[in-house]
Amino acid sequence: MQNTLSIQKTMPSLQEEVTKRRTFAIIAHPDAGKTTLTEKLLLYGGAIQLAGAVKARKERKTATSDWMAMEKERGISITSAALQFQYSDYVLNLLDTPGHEDFSEDTYRTLIAADTAVMVLDAAKGVEPQTRKLFKVCRERGIPIITFINKMDRPTKDMFALLDEIEEVLNIIAVPYVWPLGTGFDFKGVYDRLNSEVHLFEKTTGGILPAPFEVSGVYDSALDSKIDKDILDKFREEIELVEDGIHPFNQDEFLEGMITPVFFGSALNNFGIKLFLDRFLNLAPSPYHIILSDGSLMDPVESPFSCFVFKVQANMNKVHRDRIAFVRVCSGKFERGLNVNHNRLGKQIKLSSSFAFFGQDRNTVDEAYPGDIIGLINPGTYKIGDILYSGKQPNLRPLPVFAPELFATISTADTTSLKGFKKGIEQLTEEGILHLYSSRTIGSGSPIIGAAGRLQFDVFQRRLKDEYNVDTNINMLPYEACRWVHEEDASKLPSSANQIQDRENKTVVLFESEWDMNYFIRNNPEIRLKDHPA
Ligand code: G4P
Repeated sequence: MQNTLSIQKTMPSLQEEVTKRRTFAIIAHPDAGKTTLTEKLLLYGGAIQLAGAVKARKERKTATSDWMAMEKERGISITSAALQFQYSDYVLNLLDTPGHEDFSEDTYRTLIAADTAVMVLDAAKGVEPQTRKLFKVCRERGIPIITFINKMDRPTKDMFALLDEIEEVLNIIAVPYVWPLGTGFDFKGVYDRLNSEVHLFEKTTGGILPAPFEVSGVYDSALDSKIDKDILDKFREEIELVEDGIHPFNQDEFLEGMITPVFFGSALNNFGIKLFLDRFLNLAPSPYHIILSDGSLMDPVESPFSCFVFKVQANMNKVHRDRIAFVRVCSGKFERGLNVNHNRLGKQIKLSSSFAFFGQDRNTVDEAYPGDIIGLINPGTYKIGDILYSGKQPNLRPLPVFAPELFATISTADTTSLKGFKKGIEQLTEEGILHLYSSRTIGSGSPIIGAAGRLQFDVFQRRLKDEYNVDTNINMLPYEACRWVHEEDASKLPSSANQIQDRENKTVVLFESEWDMNYFIRNNPEIRLKDHPA
């Protein structure tokens, strides 16, 4: 009896599990250093994970024959959904947001599963286009953002100009938490404004970094012997300007997305990362951030179990050929074998196959808590946006669907591979990156696919070959815009309208240009159009 009691006492409560979790995503323009930062963060999470990460990175660089290699060639990161690691007393869930030039819905939906975003900027390039787009999604979803300015060891923009750029381009107040001592070849370290400590950056021959050590205050005479006078004088001038002129940090303003705390460092040299991570744990909120349709926040502890599917991936492992649905736990405790309600199917499902992934490796997950990401084997049961829950259905906001801007028909000349062709198209479009349509009039009966960028078609075609062994032809169609038609108005469409049906059998109209679409809207006011299917 005594034993049972003592075990119960030491088991962390649901509240404790929630309090120690941080679920976040890194947003960056390609090449800013997202992968390098991820690896360095994992380093603090333990050697086993690091080995895995390095392996995954190496595989990516050396792989030549699959679609992932193609992703790398084009500067896209591999999708592994989420990595969980422990640091200090915390459990961190890092969501993988593939960042590439083309707009991808996948990335945007992943952000919706995060409670905080870390925005990585290249100190020489500032705010780049992809960062701007991703930032916009975070802002729309109310996700607070912490900025890490990377590559401080290389020539950079002027630091004040960089902060101004963040403020002007992104319309968010930048509040430096640390301030750099010099930049580029003169980069000597960072000053931690919170603790008035200096962390020195010293490159030694052979590229090995000594552990950063601390001195107290910017006027500590120890600095004079370590740092060139001109760099130190400039730094002391700058820090005075910062202390005098910078907006004071306020946690509520940060959570509301009005201000972003800014850190400086070098991911490649593992400099400034530990300081960033330690501050991140205090700044980033624990899971609470699921906003319901009525604008209120979901209480992850008080509410019964709920999660939503934010990502579906086919052929995660070429050996298993299985499809995985990734869910983010919003509230309550997950236990393997749990019976839950499935909102779309309107029936009960037993969650018996639940996994965590690390590259190609997978481990069974027996328990999970709000903020955690679990992969469920998906024999076609789950679609993006599905909600699984105990008790009353939570009123989660629907996931956004973006109207594609490019359309094509897809066909295969090889009649012996028709089965694989159909299966491949069906399964890969479930991932929600390309959308599948059909039409009686357009494309002479071939399936129609729509996407936001040309790259998506190339990856799709390559995956059909690699994963389903099907050669395909893609013929681009001359349309650049589409709109869903309000169901009651579909019968009013003129016969000249370029009608197609989505996979839920909803009517969509294609337009050759934005101008054509606006012309149609002006001339057919009785037909209501929507830029999303809901
Ligand atoms: P991404 O995931 O955002 O696309 O960027 P990634 O981490 O792959 O980094 C892009 C390039 O920038 C890499 O060089 C990486 O080594 C380099 N890099 C990242 N952080 C820093 C930094 O703090 N300082 C400097 N000087 N370079 C940095 P690469 O040559 O493309 O690849 P690799 O061969 O070095 O891996």
